[in-house]
Amino acid sequence: MNTTRCVMALGIVLAVLWGSGGGELQDERSTYMQFKLAHAQQLLGGLVREDFPAISRHAQQLKLLSQDASWEVYRGAEYEQLSVMFRRETDRLAEAAGHRNLDGATLAYVQLTLTCVQCHDQMRKNEAKPIAASREEP
Ligand code: HEC
Repeated sequence: MNTTRCVMALGIVLAVLWGSGGGELQDERSTYMQFKLAHAQQLLGGLVREDFPAISRHAQQLKLLSQDASWEVYRGAEYEQLSVMFRRETDRLAEAAGHRNLDGATLAYVQLTLTCVQCHDQMRKNEAKPIAASREEP
């Protein structure tokens, strides 16, 4: 058996073992994580409609999500830093919406979206394993 096959076989065994152990937690977490996407989409909807109360509401919901225990999937300075940036942009969004400042809110939305992409990109590159449950590819 060549090395590649060996590694693949090991990967499958580990995936099955992890999957059976952390399945429930994983499901719960992915539902929670999907909310982020839903709120981010609602934010965009709010911006194009100039619906400031909606912008403010969804920005606050995103901030609350990021303060939930389920957010703490990884430990480390980078993850923490991106989480801080994420919360800061949700604050800026809510504040700009409060002032009916469409440009400010749009800029904060773009910055927020950057943190989404950066954190996910970093997780993919990162060797570190999540604190609990494993990452499962869909
Ligand atoms: C500080 C890091 C961080 C930021 C910022 C972040 N996420 Fe995530 N996201 C995660 C982690 C960790 C997971 C869970 C990965 C896992 O369990 O496999 C996740 C999972 C998800 C998932 C479900 C998994 C998937 O691939 O479908 C979605 C959707 C998602 N995030 C969307 C967003 C959106 C939209 C934003 C910005 C509004 C965002 N995330 C910002 C860390 C982050």
